[in-house]
Order: sequence, then C-alpha cells, then structure tokens
Amino acid sequence: MAINKTITLITGANGGIGFELAAQLLGDASKHVLLGSRSFEKGEAAVKELQTRNLPGSVELVQIDVTNEDSINAAVKEVEVKHGRLDALVNNAAIADAPGTSFRKLNEVFRTNVAGPYATVEAFAPLLEKSTRTPRIVNVSSGGGSIGLRLDPSNAFYTLKGDQYRVSKAGLNMVNACQAVEYGPKGWKVFSFCPGFTVSNLGPHNKVENGAKPTSEGAGPMVGILNGERDSEHGLLLKADGQWPW
Ligand SMILES: NC(=O)c1ccc[n+]([C@@H]2O[C@H](COP(=O)([O-])OP(=O)(O)OC[C@H]3O[C@@H](n4cnc5c(N)ncnc54)[C@H](OP(=O)(O)O)[C@@H]3O)[C@@H](O)[C@H]2O)c1
Repeated sequence: MAINKTITLITGANGGIGFELAAQLLGDASKHVLLGSRSFEKGEAAVKELQTRNLPGSVELVQIDVTNEDSINAAVKEVEVKHGRLDALVNNAAIADAPGTSFRKLNEVFRTNVAGPYATVEAFAPLLEKSTRTPRIVNVSSGGGSIGLRLDPSNAFYTLKGDQYRVSKAGLNMVNACQAVEYGPKGWKVFSFCPGFTVSNLGPHNKVENGAKPTSEGAGPMVGILNGERDSEHGLLLKADGQWPW
C-alpha cells in the first residue's frame, strides 16, 4: 500500500499539533502517515476521524509511548514488518508539566521530551537508513528552550516560568544538534522546529482567548520542512518565518 509513498511517523499524533500535521500531510496522495499514539483508544479514534475526511493520503495507527523502551522497540518491529523502512520521523510527543516536586517535574518532563526523542531516533535509525528518499527528522521544540530568548527581558514570555519545560526543550535542542552531526554526513536532514504559541492540550493556557494561534498554523510549516523546502537549514532551531537563537 505504502511502497511508493513517503512514510512519516509522527509521535503523539492523536491530538493537538501532531494530529493537525497528520491531517495536512494526508492532503498529499504521496504520503503515508504512521499516526503515533501512546493510547490505543485515542489513536484509533484519531485514525478513524482522519479516514472519515476522505483525504488523498493514507494513515495507520502505530502505538508508541516514547518513555518506554519496550514500546519504542515494538513500534520499530511493527514498522519493519509492515513497511521495511521509514522516510521521516517527527518527534512531536511531549508534556509541559508533571505532578510533584521540581525534582520530579524535571525528571518526568526530561524523560518524555528529551530521552524519548533521543531513544526513538536511535531505535528507528536502521529503518531510516533504508529510506528510499532523503531521511528527515523533525524534533518539535520550542523557543521556550532557547537560552538566548530566556535571557532577553523583552521576550514576550520572559515572565513565564515553566522551568521543567524550558530545560527539557533546551536539552532537546542539543539532541537535535547531536543528531544533525551524527546523521548529517549520511545525507539525512535534521531540524528543531518551534510551532509557536498554539491551541492544543499542552497546558491550560493553550487557548484562543490567551492569544494562541490555530493548531493548523502551528503545524503547517512542518509540511514544507518534511518536503525538503528548508533542507539548507539542517541542524538549526527553526520557526515558521526564520530561526530562533540557541
Ligand atoms: N502548543 C504550543 O503552544 C507549543 C509551543 C511550542 C512547542 N510545542 C510543542 O509541540 C508539540 C506538540 O504539542 P501540542 O501543543 O500539540 O500538545 P498536546 O495537544 O498536549 O499533544 C501532545 C501529544 O503528545 C502525546 N504524548 C505525551 N506523552 C507521550 C508519551 N510518553 N509517549 C507518546 N506520546 C505522548 C500526547 O498524548 P496523550 O493524548 O496520550 O496525552 C499528545 O498526543 C510538543 O513537542 C510541544 O512541546 C507546542
């Protein structure tokens, strides 16, 4: 079914920006989306919702919890058996906060937002190696993880704390740089991408009334990145209209 299509795995795509990205990619008949979801039920509902839209591309569910190595390895096995390769991987799954003390928050958010994407790429690398296209990795990051912006008092989010999230996205940016150095020489393209403040389930503030942009706008620029339009910006922290400083 997907042999001639570009196969893209998006983690955490049962809702929010990941779901929107899946929907936009499916507007192209040459795309096959592996909709990643840690919950089978939520993922199944998301796939059904996309299928009812009769979009030209094709979609299937891949259950993956990025904080669980067994789950990551099972997802790799499933994609290997069904498709034998992967063309693009979008590390979208993330959390903004966790219950408990700062120590617990930092550990849990770091596990999901940093260790998860690192391990997911490492596990899928052999299948990306078998891609028949230019393999692309997009790490969905945030300007909140930019050290340069954090130190800038004129930044709109200067008074917003969320240290566990900021620290995790700074860590993800380094994961991105390490992946760019590791896989770049093979011809792969690796990017950090900040969707900007967007409506989603990430936190209680991600709502239109607080100035968040539509989910479709947050996800939209990733379609161009995955189509190779920004390959010259390999390794960098991108936003819709340029780049953020590290
Ligand atoms: N929205 C913004 O303003 C904004 C700004 C900058 C960056 N971002 C980034 O954009 C990406 C998407 O976030 P979003 O705003 O769309 O938030 P969201 O609506 O909360 O979506 C996050 C997704 O990640 C999944 N997820 C969480 N932990 C997971 C795990 N361990 N394994 C697999 N999936 C997991 C969630 O699944 P469940 O449904 O099961 O919880 C959900 O599908 C994130 O990387 C976020 O940091 C968002």
